[in-house]
Amino acid sequence: MPSRIAQIRLVSGHPEVYEPCDDSFALVDALLADRENLLEHQPMFCLEVGCGSGYVITSLAIMLRQEDSAASVSYFATDINPHAVRVTSETLKAHTVHAEVLCDNIAASGMGKRLWGKVDVMVVNPPYVPTPEDEVGRDGIASAWAGGEDGRTVIDKILPVADKLLSNKGWLYMVTLAANNPSQISLLMKEKGYASHIIVQRSTEEESLHVIKFWRDPDLLVGEPKDLSVDTTHRTSSAGMMDSIFLQSPRKPFLEDR
Ligand SMILES: C[S@@+](CC[C@H](N)C(=O)[O-])C[C@H]1O[C@@H](n2cnc3c(N)ncnc32)[C@H](O)[C@@H]1O
Repeated sequence: MPSRIAQIRLVSGHPEVYEPCDDSFALVDALLADRENLLEHQPMFCLEVGCGSGYVITSLAIMLRQEDSAASVSYFATDINPHAVRVTSETLKAHTVHAEVLCDNIAASGMGKRLWGKVDVMVVNPPYVPTPEDEVGRDGIASAWAGGEDGRTVIDKILPVADKLLSNKGWLYMVTLAANNPSQISLLMKEKGYASHIIVQRSTEEESLHVIKFWRDPDLLVGEPKDLSVDTTHRTSSAGMMDSIFLQSPRKPFLEDR
C-alpha cells in the first residue's frame, strides 16, 4: 500500500502551549518505528496524556489509519492546560481525526474510572525537566516542562495511573530524560509486572532522551521474585534495559495517510 508522507500542519497555537520539539519528534519516531507492531496490535482505545499541541495524538491516529480496516479506534487526549485542549482539538480537526479531548490533571484525577483497563496504547511526553518542586503544576507553559526533583514528580504520578488505565494488552510509550533515571523507572514498572524496551534514544545539545515502551509481561508476576540484575530475554526488561538493542529510526516526517 503506498504511503503518502507529509508533515502535520500546526494550524493553531497559543503562547502557553508547548510546540512540538525534539522530545515530541522522538516520541512520534518511536511510534513510527513500532508502527507494524501497532497495526498488528489492533488497539481499540488510544490515549495521550499531556497532549499539548496535539501533534503526537494526531500523528498516532494518522499512522494507524488504514483504508482497508473496518476496526474503529477511539482516541482520547488530555491536558491540564485548557489552551492545550483547544489547540489539540483544532489540530485533530484539521487532520480529520476524531478524538475526545479533556482538560484534566492526571496526577489528581487518575482520569476517572471510565477508561480503566481499556487503554491499549498510551503515549506520554511528560514534564520531565528537573526543577524546584514548587514549579510543578503551575498554570500555563511551565506545566509543560517543570518536573520537580529529578524531573520525576509528574512521571511518578502518571505511572500508577497508567497501570490502572492500560488494558491487559496495553502498551505505554513514554519519553524520559537521562536525569529522570529511566532504569529506575523501568524497575518500578517491572515491580508492577511490566517489561520495557527502549525504542528510541536520542541526544541533543541539551538533553539525552529515551522513549521507553512498557507492556505487561505475565512472567513478571508469576512465582518467585526474579533476580532483577539478570535479563536473558530478547524483550529486554528493566535491569538490562540500557544494554538493549535500540530500535532507532531517523527523524522523518510522519505518515499523512495510508
Ligand atoms: C512536554 S509537554 C508535551 C506536549 C505534547 N505531548 C508534545 O509532545 O509535543 C507536556 C504536556 O503535559 C501537560 N501536563 C503537565 N502536567 C500534567 C498533568 N498533571 N495532567 C495532564 N497534563 C499535564 C502540559 O500542559 C504539556 O502540554
